[in-house]
Amino acid sequence: MAVAVVFGVSEWKLRRQYEAPLQALRTSAPPDLAEGERMALIVGCWNGCHGRRGEGGSEHIDGILRQTAPTLSEVLPLYTDEALARLIRYGVKRDGRSAVGMSSYAFWALGDQDLANIIAHLRKQQKTFTPRERTLDLSWRARLALTIGTWGVAAERVDRSRPRWGDLPQTNSFERGRYIATVTCTECHGLNFDGNELEHAPSLSRIAMYSPEQFREFMRTGKPIGGRDIPNMRWVVEAPFSDAEIDGMYQFLRVHHRIER
Ligand code: HEC
Repeated sequence: MAVAVVFGVSEWKLRRQYEAPLQALRTSAPPDLAEGERMALIVGCWNGCHGRRGEGGSEHIDGILRQTAPTLSEVLPLYTDEALARLIRYGVKRDGRSAVGMSSYAFWALGDQDLANIIAHLRKQQKTFTPRERTLDLSWRARLALTIGTWGVAAERVDRSRPRWGDLPQTNSFERGRYIATVTCTECHGLNFDGNELEHAPSLSRIAMYSPEQFREFMRTGKPIGGRDIPNMRWVVEAPFSDAEIDGMYQFLRVHHRIER
């Protein structure tokens, strides 16, 4: 009986339709392809789940799931810009179902211009990669977590009440840092930067132990203070953050965690 309920509820969440608006991106400038590539590397469309250059990859969360992150040059042509923006921000696929494992909760804050830049950059890519076969294996633990709500499909995990920082002013390094940290670090460290058990990522209140120089060093080398290796964060080293963005994230994370100077 319990098994049937868990299967039934999790299957319903995987198959049901999710409401989300299809909206044109409002931009004031033509897409900036170089900035699109930079942001694609920062938020991880490239050099993340979908492989180094969008060739596709396989994602794996211990005891939870094993799945394909598809080849981007294969799936992008199936989407209009509006549908792609909806998928990225709301986690809703073109058939109205939810994506699974996509970090839309972090991408929610991406501004229209950044999203347009990223999409234009990704669309430039020719179909040079052999498409990955699509698979999704969910464990019973994952189905149970879906049923009781300790884990969710992508569309469920988006908090639509949160600000879209990317479309709000970024006139100083604090505001820029808040935006960049929101669209990148929350992916693993939780929407409130207070840690995520599933990803084994600690609360970013650990920033209290870092001087600005040590934080810069960490973001550039992937080596935290003490010099341990953090395999899950190697991508950080390759993310093309500017110095001002790193300093801004430092300022923002300290204020967010109410750390005295
Ligand atoms: C892909 C997942 C992932 C992303 C994205 C990520 N982190 Fe982490 N981070 C981790 C994990 C996992 C650990 C803990 C690893 C450990 O302790 O071995 C960690 C640890 C840390 C620590 C603690 C280091 C210490 O001293 O122990 C800090 C600080 C940190 N991350 C900052 C950031 C910032 C800032 C960002 C955004 C720019 C970020 N992380 C993005 C996965 C991630």
